[in-house]
Amino acid sequence: MAEPETMNDDNGLPLFAFQDLDYIPFGYGTTTAPYIETSAGTMRAAAALMRLGASQDIDAGLTSLEQKSGPAVVCDLGSGDGEFLIGLLDHIDSHAHGVTAARGIGIDYDAELIKKASTRSISEGINAIWIVYDFNNDEEDLASLLMNTHHVTHVFIYLVPKQLMMQTVRRILTRLCASGVVVCCYKFFPAYLTPARCDTRMELMLYDETS
Ligand SMILES: C[S@@+](CC[C@H](N)C(=O)[O-])C[C@H]1O[C@@H](n2cnc3c(N)ncnc32)[C@H](O)[C@@H]1O
Repeated sequence: MAEPETMNDDNGLPLFAFQDLDYIPFGYGTTTAPYIETSAGTMRAAAALMRLGASQDIDAGLTSLEQKSGPAVVCDLGSGDGEFLIGLLDHIDSHAHGVTAARGIGIDYDAELIKKASTRSISEGINAIWIVYDFNNDEEDLASLLMNTHHVTHVFIYLVPKQLMMQTVRRILTRLCASGVVVCCYKFFPAYLTPARCDTRMELMLYDETS
């Protein structure tokens, strides 16, 4: 079979940003970067699955982590411009009845996106820090940094399968999970972790070795 032809833009760059990836992420919005935002509906479903903020489980009497042991620390691994994490933190705090329920850490290798996220979270009064970091190289041992320095309790991930399969990413996620960090994946799922709960309709899977 003939190889598919690569289309280039006016600058000679590949027009299709995902040609190196195994899957085409649904709903991509740019031809230059594999950056796709997760919707507000998915964000609310992720909060419920992670038991952060209002959920049927909490309403039914189950306590959420932030009620048991102080504010949750939520990391978006591949946070982009921060829209998802800022929305999630806002959503969690709006259901926390006046207590600070969560703070956030956004990680991305795109410095421009991290700058946008930082500016936006400051202007919206959101308690988050934003770090430029390439977890493919993982030169500074991200898992240790997240657990020991930032005391991360929850991690949200929306990455394509090829990224999830990288040795570095696999090591980071496996160590976080083994240490009791709750990991929530959207759309694509790491086969090396064992799911604890899922929201099939919203394509969310939760990994929680403490449950
Ligand atoms: C699909 S977007 C998800 C954005 C956001 N988490 C959301 O759900 O709306 C994936 C993000 O991961 C980032 N990313 C991909 N590979 C990365 C790497 N090796 N290190 C850091 N960030 C990475 C991309 O720059 C992009 O912003």
